[in-house]
Amino acid sequence: MIDVKIPIRKLYIILFAFPVFLLSNIAIAGEPSSIPEDDQCIVCHQELEIMPEGYKEYDVHLQKGLSCSGCHGGDHTSDDEEVAMSKENGFVGVPSREEIPQFCGRCHSDPEYMRNYHPGLPTDQVQQYYSSVHGMKLKKGDKKVAVCISCHPVHSILPATDPRSSVYALNVPQTCRHCHSNAVYMRDYKIPTNQYELYAKSVHGVALLDNKDISAPACNDCHGNHGATPPGLSSVTFVCGNCHINNMNFFRQTRMAKAFEELGFHGCEQCHGHHAIEKTSDKFVGTNSESFCVKCHDPGEIGYETAGAIKSNLTELDSIYNVGSSDLLEVQRKGMNDIDIGFLLNDAHQRLIEARTLVHTFDEDTVKSKTDEGVKLVQQAITISDKEIDKYYKRRYGFYIATFILIILAVAIFLKIRDIEKDQKKKKHSV
Ligand code: HEC
Ligand code: HEC
Ligand code: HEC
Ligand code: HEC
Ligand code: HEC
Ligand code: HEC
Ligand code: HEC
Ligand code: HEC
Ligand code: HEC
Repeated sequence: MIDVKIPIRKLYIILFAFPVFLLSNIAIAGEPSSIPEDDQCIVCHQELEIMPEGYKEYDVHLQKGLSCSGCHGGDHTSDDEEVAMSKENGFVGVPSREEIPQFCGRCHSDPEYMRNYHPGLPTDQVQQYYSSVHGMKLKKGDKKVAVCISCHPVHSILPATDPRSSVYALNVPQTCRHCHSNAVYMRDYKIPTNQYELYAKSVHGVALLDNKDISAPACNDCHGNHGATPPGLSSVTFVCGNCHINNMNFFRQTRMAKAFEELGFHGCEQCHGHHAIEKTSDKFVGTNSESFCVKCHDPGEIGYETAGAIKSNLTELDSIYNVGSSDLLEVQRKGMNDIDIGFLLNDAHQRLIEARTLVHTFDEDTVKSKTDEGVKLVQQAITISDKEIDKYYKRRYGFYIATFILIILAVAIFLKIRDIEKDQKKKKHSV
């Protein structure tokens, strides 16, 4: 008996211990933290409650195993204040504002060092920064400009891809707005403080901030992450062209683009603006008062005539497309076959979209050949719609006739039956 009990008890222990062992390992894996518990900088500062303001354990530097000493220097294994924070152990203390770019650049400008942690992470931040208006002014002693820690909250820095990061696309406008919308802070400068307000209402701002569409540009997509300079005269076209490639390619080949460069005009911005870019429509081309074209072209000029011609091509396609669409609705309401009509109209609509981009060739014939393709497609769709509607009425007509014949037949049968009944009654009486 005894011989049997002991192995069973052992078995229980093993059975019980195994899941506990597994669970404890899962618990450890669930909270990844590479901050060593015996890091004396953290132990002592936490005990004395003198952690720097804004300190968060998730800070990317701490998570990557860099102690406080990674930035501040010193010896993080010593629990003696005098030793841990001594000059002999490389303690550098707190950098002044002017020193910060170099302070961060010690690692971030060193490709060999950074490769150990994150191959592919750019290492040009400091160089870019000094080419920006922020960096150039810092060098001249202006302490109000943004330094690294104005945009990256030191002691709680996150990777740029983390949605909680101050430089994650959706949060960038708020980060810049902190200073650029603060009229009191910016009063010594000669620039407006409405960039955020204009941007937030623009087609880009609505897409990014309201619809969380991160393909729309935040401030840094036009100004650079670290380059913060207004894009120069000719480079505006390239900045916008990063995303609107076709518009850029068409525009750059025009005579107008060359004239813009010579005259010092700002490319796309000259028509669309920069912070307050609106959703566009056909009303912006043509000879009507809202059109961009009439701001520079007077009647009689080629530019003016072209504007009018392009507009009438677009209007022609747009209005016939609307006719085609209402025909399609009617076909659908009548329950007839709408598949081919739908495809043709989709194709035609695509031509309209392309023609609006082709406006940027500022060439009447190019736009016209595209709108003509669209008009043809709609005409085919309308022909098919007419046939389907016709078919519907023919079917209905046939149905009426059939019903009419059936009713006549029914009446005839009814009369016949009555006659037969009458005859039978008569026969009964006579019998
Ligand atoms: C045994 C406690 C202790 C240890 C260990 C310790 N510190 Fe400190 N640290 C302090 C105290 C106390 C102060 C405030 C001293 C003062 O205000 O003069 C301080 C101040 C600082 C400051 C601000 C200095 C300034 O000029 O304002 C920094 C930065 C700092 N510590 C970083 C570190 C780093 C990095 C380590 C690890 C290498 C570390 N500390 C280890 C106790 C400690
Ligand atoms: C990425 C580099 C970096 C790391 C990592 C870092 N610091 Fe700092 N620390 C700075 C910079 C830069 C400043 C100056 C901030 C300023 O001027 O506002 C600073 C300021 C301080 C100050 C003085 C100002 C204040 O807010 O009290 C203390 C204390 C301090 N750090 C302690 C620490 C401790 C403790 C750790 C580790 C938990 C740590 N730091 C980790 C860069 C760093
Ligand atoms: C005006 C605000 C601003 C300043 C000043 C600034 N940064 Fe950035 N930083 C950003 C933005 C915005 C991003 C990019 C986010 C993205 O990639 O979408 C970024 C990204 C980074 C990255 C991730 C890699 C990269 O280049 O995309 C590092 C590292 C970095 N910054 C370090 C620094 C250092 C070091 C300094 C000081 C020399 C600094 N930053 C100054 C706004 C700033
Ligand atoms: C001791 C070297 C060192 C110093 C000094 C340092 N960093 Fe870093 N930093 C790193 C490392 C390593 C990473 C992690 C890179 C990774 O894995 O993505 C990092 C990551 C970052 C990131 C996130 C990059 C990303 O993935 O998007 C930012 C932003 C950043 N640091 C900003 C700063 C700023 C601002 C300072 C100065 C206050 C600074 N760093 C000082 C080494 C350093
Ligand atoms: C700490 C405050 C601060 C933050 C944060 C900040 N800036 Fe600035 N910025 C300034 C100051 C101050 C100037 C200098 C203005 C001047 O001299 O005209 C400036 C200048 C500029 C300029 C040049 C303006 C000119 O003179 O033509 C641009 C562009 C700019 N910032 C963009 C940005 C962007 C984009 C961000 C966010 C990614 C940002 N800034 C974040 C303070 C800040
Ligand atoms: C679609 C591109 C684009 C976006 C997005 C954008 N900017 Fe600009 N910004 C420009 C252009 C282009 C100029 C240059 C205007 C000129 O000089 O003709 C400019 C100029 C500026 C200036 C110089 C002063 C001024 O108002 O002309 C500042 C400061 C500035 N932008 C900050 C910002 C901030 C902050 C954001 C985000 C809230 C932002 N920008 C978003 C394109 C953009
Ligand atoms: C980072 C990419 C990006 C950059 C840079 C950019 N845009 Fe856009 N833009 C978009 C996206 C995405 C939309 C679509 C927004 C929406 O409606 O959802 C858009 C929409 C527009 C529209 C409205 C289109 C319409 O359907 O009416 C115009 C006009 C425009 N951008 C012009 C510009 C100009 C001019 C610049 C340069 C000053 C610029 N964009 C820079 C991505 C960008
Ligand atoms: C001379 C004035 C002018 C210039 C310069 C100009 N555009 Fe346009 N843009 C227009 C007009 C007009 C429309 C409206 C077309 C329509 O809807 O009929 C338009 C429409 C757009 C649209 C929406 C239609 C589409 O293609 O999706 C975008 C995006 C756009 N422009 C971007 C740009 C970019 C980027 C540049 C610079 C490379 C630029 N534009 C230069 C006049 C201009
Ligand atoms: C900011 C001013 C400006 C706006 C807005 C503008 N243009 Fe122009 N356009 C010019 C200049 C300058 C020239 C070069 C004139 C020249 O070479 O004689 C030009 C040239 C042209 C030409 C070539 C004329 C030729 O002689 O071959 C055409 C076509 C044209 N524009 C059409 C348009 C259309 C269409 C619009 C509206 C969508 C428009 N432009 C809006 C300034 C403008």
